[in-house]
Amino acid sequence: MKKIFCLLFLLFVLVSCDNKTNNTNNNINNDPINDKEDVKETKIEEDSNDILVAYFSVTGNTKKLAEYAQEHLDSDLFEIVPEEAYTSADINYNSDCRANREQNDSSARPKIKNKIEDMSKYDFIVLAYPIWWGEAPKIMYTFVESYNLENKTILPFCTSGSSPIGSSAKNLAKVTKGNWLEGKRFSSSTTKEEMNNWLDQNIDIKEEKMILEIDGNKLNVNWEDNNSVKELKNLAKNNLSINMKQYGGFEQTGSIGSSVTRNDVQMDVVPGDIVLYNGNAISVFYNPSSWSYTKLGHINLSNDELNTLLNKVSITFVLKIE
Ligand SMILES: Cc1cc2nc3c(=O)[nH]c(=O)nc-3n(C[C@H](O)[C@H](O)[C@H](O)COP(=O)(O)O)c2cc1C
Repeated sequence: MKKIFCLLFLLFVLVSCDNKTNNTNNNINNDPINDKEDVKETKIEEDSNDILVAYFSVTGNTKKLAEYAQEHLDSDLFEIVPEEAYTSADINYNSDCRANREQNDSSARPKIKNKIEDMSKYDFIVLAYPIWWGEAPKIMYTFVESYNLENKTILPFCTSGSSPIGSSAKNLAKVTKGNWLEGKRFSSSTTKEEMNNWLDQNIDIKEEKMILEIDGNKLNVNWEDNNSVKELKNLAKNNLSINMKQYGGFEQTGSIGSSVTRNDVQMDVVPGDIVLYNGNAISVFYNPSSWSYTKLGHINLSNDELNTLLNKVSITFVLKIE
């Protein structure tokens, strides 16, 4: 075993010297990642809410790329934090360091400090780790063995000085369940664009469009990109219907029935604007007004069309997802 490590290390050191010219495309493992029959090879369609990016990183290379992935996928992010943090001495691979000893010990399962509260909500996991002696760090085994990954798709990636992903993900796949996709090795200098391109080759993010219907008329709306709209989208999954009443000769307003995140600022609203009022009500305007609101979106209609649609005693305002 030690001989294999020595050889691997020699290779790692030799190739690292030439790392800059070599490091982006010397590494893809073309073998299917495991022998299980249910390995998916086609691009998977996923909703951002169902995706988790989980990573382990000691010196920050993997962390940076995992954050790129999370940002691109708009997913949740989980850092695998060791119960006992790795010091620089622990990862000094030229010595008999803790990392080397763990990699040498097939039964080593370093403890993890934190935990994913509800793993069942994820269908797709992007799993990221550094290569340690050609393999995934042993804490990654602790991680994959801690959860039921059945029916989940796992897309692994690693960072390394030069080594390919090799059999590192295949070996992780052996100790757990799940549909493991072919992974990829990235260098620490990988750009956001390179990461995004690779993710796009593997995952198709479902566009979740929130639709507004007022009295049965489907409307063209530009939604704001903020947490209030994200939370409304979640409510819209079960069709959110609000009975609105005319108020003040300029708006229709009604209660959501629950509260969503508010970031109110004093603003001048124009006809067509949709705002969150008081964190628990929505107002739609057909005449200008000013107040402290959180902007949600804008209906693309002329003032005359808005007047016809909204200048009445009451309306039914429905949000749904298509
Ligand atoms: C104990 C140890 C062993 C390593 N073994 C390898 C290796 O076999 N091949 C390689 O290319 N890089 C190896 N590296 C380098 C790391 O894979 C690389 O620096 C990685 O990007 C670190 O990720 P992090 O910053 O997220 O911790 C090793 C590093 C450590 C600490």
